[in-house]
This record gives sequence, structure tokens and C-alpha cells, in this order.
Amino acid sequence: MAAQIIDGKAVAQRLRGEIKTKVADLVAHIGVAPHLVVVLASDDPASAVYVRNKGKAAEEVGIRSTQHTLPANTEKAALLELIQKLNADPDVDGILVQLPVPKQHDTEALIRALDPAKDVDGLHPLNAGLLSRGDESGLIPCTPKGCIKLIESAGVDLAGKHAVVLGRSRLVGRPVADLLLNRNATVTTCHSRTKDLAQEVGRADVLIAAIGKEELVKGSWVKFGATVIDVGINRNPAGKLTGDVAFPGAAERAAAITPVPGGVGPMTIACLLENTLIAATRRRVMR
Ligand code: GUN
Repeated sequence: MAAQIIDGKAVAQRLRGEIKTKVADLVAHIGVAPHLVVVLASDDPASAVYVRNKGKAAEEVGIRSTQHTLPANTEKAALLELIQKLNADPDVDGILVQLPVPKQHDTEALIRALDPAKDVDGLHPLNAGLLSRGDESGLIPCTPKGCIKLIESAGVDLAGKHAVVLGRSRLVGRPVADLLLNRNATVTTCHSRTKDLAQEVGRADVLIAAIGKEELVKGSWVKFGATVIDVGINRNPAGKLTGDVAFPGAAERAAAITPVPGGVGPMTIACLLENTLIAATRRRVMR
């Protein structure tokens, strides 16, 4: 039986439509649009594309966006100063520092410097800590949030399911494991030192692959009837985008699976817009 292909583009488009309506309501109420600031401090061309897409998507739903582009050799102190300035600016609702940043910067220090109320990536220790305690009232990282929305869009109830997460990053693996646990899944997190990855994957009712290695997960590893969420975006030597999961084989066994591209990617941006709306509403209305 062929798997249901989870259409991330369609789910994201629906979410963006809902956000657009809520942004218009907020603007009608307070007279000003939410404001997202995106900081690009590297000269990585892929990051430049991501940042541009984030800005464009924001404008489409009525969120103002400003991009700060800094030269790749910008000093550590100068970037920290910019963050402090944005923290202090009452007209800024959300701050996103596109990662990775060049080596001279201390990524952890940058994240800690953000005002947690403006941390639309949900990476600040306060937001991450709340999430890990089962409190989802902070800002929640965009890609993990998008993964959960996709699972829910496929009609899967996570309670009691065995969820296996591949990867333990600050951006995806750890927060998505927290979200799954908060929804009463039994969660296994795998990483580079996991002994038998194929065996762990084979137990997954829900598999989240966020390792960043082209087609690492073979189709034959996937449990029959599983829900497979592929977070990987890898460019193979032929220039084609591939996920962390070998799609054709996995689609023969899974009940539902996300494609790459067109799965998780569009959800990350939609959830960033949602977080910006949440941050703006809390800062400007709920104080
Ligand atoms: N680089 C890759 N993904 C992300 C993301 O979600 N947020 C930020 N800030 N940088 C990224």
C-alpha cells in the first residue's frame, strides 16, 4: 500500500492564511504590524536565500520585516551590540539570527543575549528550559513545531506511540523530542553514537529524521504503518535536494511520509511567522 504523502506546502499555506487573518486583526486593534528582524552575519549563499525567503513570507502575511546583513568578518562584540540594540527597541517584536554564524562568534552567547520574549527561534535557554519541563507557554522552535503540525495533519494521535528522533541538535532533535514527550509519546533519541540505528528505526511508529545525511535511513528499516517526518535537506553531488530518508523504499512501508522538498521546509517558515505573531501579541497586547 502506498503511503499518504504529507503535503507540507499545503499545510503551511493554510497556516499562513490563518496567520494573515490574525495579523490583520492585531493591526486593526493596535494600529501597527508585528515586526520581525532577521540578522544575516555570514556570507553563506544558502543562508542568504533562507533569510530572503523568511522576509518575503513575512511581508505576505502583513508582518513587517527588516534584514540586517553584516559582513562575514564582523567582530563578535559588534553582533552582540546589534542584538542588544534590537532587544531594547520597542518597535521590534521578533529577532532571528540566521545560523550558522562565522567562527569568531560564540553561537551560545548570541542566543543567550537575545531577549527571550523576542526569541522567535525558541532557542534561548529560558524558552528551551520551559519546553523541556513540559511548559509550552514560551516560544517554541520553528522546525520542531512544524513537524508536530504535520504529524497532526496526518491524523496521528501521538499518545502511547513509540517516537524515534534521529539527531540531538539544539535546533531540531532535542526540542522535537520534548514536544513528542509532551504529547505522551514514548521517545527514543538517536545520534552518532547510537549502536544499532536500523534496529531503533524499526521500532518507530513515528520517525523524525534530523541528522543531515543524505538518505541515511534505508527504506527497509522503516516499520510498516509508520509516520515518517524527514527534516533533512541535503544537496547531493548531482545538485538534487534529498532528505535523510531514502524516500521510494520508505514510502512503500510507511502509512504517511513527508517529501523533500515540500515537506518540513515550508512549515519552518510558517511557524516562524506564527511565533512572530505570538511574540507581538504578547508584547503589545497582553502586557
Ligand atoms: N539555520 C537553519 N535553520 C535555522 C533556523 O530555524 N533558525 C535559524 N536562526 N537558523 C537556522
